[in-house]
Parts: sequence; structure tokens; C-alpha cells
Amino acid sequence: MTEPDIKKGLAGVVVDTTAISKVNPETNSLLYRGYPVQELAATQPFEAVAYLLWNGELPDAAQLADLRATERAHRALAAEVKAVIDLIPLSAHPMDEVRTAVSAIGASDPGAGGSVLNAGGSPAENLERSIRLFAALPAIVAYGQRRRRGEDIIAPRDDLDYSANFLWMTFGEEPDPVVVDAFNRSMILYAEHSFNASTFTARVITSTLSDLYSAVVGAIGALKGPLHGGANEAVLHIFDEIGSADNVVPWLDAALAEKRKIMGFGHRVYKKGDSRVPTMKAALDTLVEHYGREDVAELYDALESEFVARKGIYPNLDYPSGPAYNLIGFDTLTFTPLFVAARVTGWTAHVIEQAGANALIRPLSHYDGVDERHVER
Ligand SMILES: CC(C)(COP(=O)(O)OP(=O)(O)OC[C@H]1O[C@@H](n2cnc3c(N)ncnc32)[C@H](O)[C@@H]1OP(=O)(O)O)[C@@H](O)C(=O)NCCC(=O)NCCS
Repeated sequence: MTEPDIKKGLAGVVVDTTAISKVNPETNSLLYRGYPVQELAATQPFEAVAYLLWNGELPDAAQLADLRATERAHRALAAEVKAVIDLIPLSAHPMDEVRTAVSAIGASDPGAGGSVLNAGGSPAENLERSIRLFAALPAIVAYGQRRRRGEDIIAPRDDLDYSANFLWMTFGEEPDPVVVDAFNRSMILYAEHSFNASTFTARVITSTLSDLYSAVVGAIGALKGPLHGGANEAVLHIFDEIGSADNVVPWLDAALAEKRKIMGFGHRVYKKGDSRVPTMKAALDTLVEHYGREDVAELYDALESEFVARKGIYPNLDYPSGPAYNLIGFDTLTFTPLFVAARVTGWTAHVIEQAGANALIRPLSHYDGVDERHVER
């Protein structure tokens, strides 16, 4: 019998087409609906990029105003969702909290319940659900951080756009435009990345004709792992361990001797560098200057140059975003939930795309267990 050609981890396997984003590792480029992500990060508010991912075109002024009005209308944390969050132990990982909150939102959406036969919903219903989740997640993430700090919830502000309001709900202070800009860029850079593990999870769940909320809940579970979204949190743990730039060499000697993976470096697709890193590094530089924290930049540069010189493996987006979120004031545990708030736009665009041209995703496996045997009687 010939051995099947097994693609462990589905590496290199093309499973479907998508019109949402294009990753080109050869040219280190990432396009959302044809636009380079760097261009979008430099010129657009996150709301416009969300619109682009869902609809295929950037919004005109009226369409953007319309999306912003809907987003504002769904910003506040619903009392029943807050009640569910309050039941979760403070010791739980915030990703468990976010996952549970999204599940609660799904359970209270009258359209998503009922017969499993129509659980998938129409494209219009799914777009509405996507916008509602996009609008609700900042309050969930912000309240999560405040709850862990023993602080009260802060109501959203109607006069602020998405990114500024997100920061307001987290910190209760009017954010500086430099900080809003860096945060907005990070949201755009995290929004979408083709068939990564969490997006693929969302597509697998959608392919069974399950509902959008279930797809997003599953995607959050996939994103939690440190080989995927959890890496931005892991980068800060590493920074904390190293302490300062002059400790990089001994720390790296020990870490590599123990065969540790250095979080924030390496990528399944990009082998010559992550297309999003220069934009996020530039945003980090503005924060370093704003907060007067050159020590962070020194540690960042020292670890990067030492690791790249030794292994030839380049930083991924989580490397600059981790310290950027730290400087803004987010707790390390909140980093991956921030990724959820951004990536929910890409996930839901993929749910809508998958549902529009569906085929049940069900690969095969090669059995290598014990041969057939029988129960002794
Ligand atoms: C992202 C990642 C899972 C991609 O991995 P992959 O394409 O499956 O490649 P592998 O994990 O098989 O790595 C290939 C080789 O490079 C090494 N490598 C890759 N990333 C590494 C890292 N961050 N630190 C140390 N070694 C690394 C592996 O140990 C392996 O070495 P080997 O061939 O001697 O066994 C991997 O680079 C990683 O674990 N990075 C750290 C986590 C992270 O930052 N994730 C966020 C991704 S956006």
C-alpha cells in the first residue's frame, strides 16, 4: 500500500479561494481587498477597514458615517452580557472571558437561535451580526481589564471614534492623538491575514452551517494559543524576563540552550520578515517617544538583532505590538483580547465568504494505530 502524502499542519496546502486578503511572502506584502495594509494603516480609521473587509470597497463618507452610527449604537456592554462576565472567576484567562461573552451575545440574538436549519443566517443578517460584535468587543475587553484591576466599568462616549472610545472605556481618560493613532494602526494590522489558524477554524465551523457566533467563539479558542495570537502576550513575558538590553545575550544563550521558542519571531508563511512589522514598529517608535521610554526600544532592538543574527528568523507582528500595548497601559493579559477585537472583522468577513460558496470542510486522515483486533469473550 502506498503511503498517502500527508501535509502535517496543512503546511503548503491551498484549501480554497478568498477575495478578502492576499499574503505574498515573496514580496512581504499583505493586501486587504487589493489595498496594501501599510497604506490602510497610514490613512484609514479602523472602522473604514472593517467596512472594506466586509464589503470589498472602502466606504464613502456617508457609508462610513452610517457604519459609525451603528457601531456607536451597539457600543455599550449589554446588562445580560455583563452579568455573564461577572460570573467568570477573576483568575480565568481574559480570552476565556471574551469567548464566553461572545457566546452570551450569540445566545441572546433571537435570529441566531431556533432551528439549526437556519442557524447560518442570510448574508445581510450575518453582516449585521458582524457589526454588532465589532461594536461590542471593545466594551468586553475594556471591562475585562478594569474588572481585574478592581475598577468600575466606564460607559462609552458617543463623541469619540472607535479607537479613541476603546481607550476611553479602558482607561477613563481622553487619549492623546499619538496614542489613538498607534492603537488604530495596530487594529488595522491585526484585522485580517487570510487562512490563519483562527480564521480557518471559523471557516470550518461555518462550513457545517453553524452560526456566526459559534464560528467566532471557535476562532477565539484557536487564537488563544501562544503559537498564534497568544504570542503578543508571550513577548511581554519575555521582555519582563530579560529586563534590559544588556541582559539579552546571556538570556538568549540560556533560552536557546533550553531549545525555547522565542515568542514574537517566526511565521508559518513569511520566512523573510512579516509585512506588518515595519508599520507597527514605526507606531511603537512614536509611543516610545511619547512616553519617553527609550529603554523599551533598546531592549527591542537588542533582542531582534541578536536573534536574527543567530537564527535568521525575523519578528512577526506580535513582537512590536506587545511592547506597544504595554506602553499604552494595557495589562499583558489583555493583549490577545485586543487581537480578538481587531480580528473579529476578518473572521466575520470569512464567515460570510465561506457561507456564500460553502463546502463542508472535512479532510481525511491516515490511520496508523493498532491493526484490527477483537474483544476477547
Ligand atoms: C509561528 C511558528 C509556529 C511558525 O512555525 P512553523 O512554520 O511551523 O515552523 P517551525 O515551528 O517548524 O520552525 C522551523 C524551525 O525554526 C525554529 N523556530 C521557528 N520559530 C522559532 C522561534 N520563535 N524561536 C526559536 N526557534 C524557532 C524551529 O524550532 C524549527 O527549528 P528546527 O528545524 O531546528 O526544528 C513559529 O515560528 C513559532 O512558534 N514562533 C513563536 C510563536 C509566535 O511568535 N507566534 C506568532 C505567529 S504570528
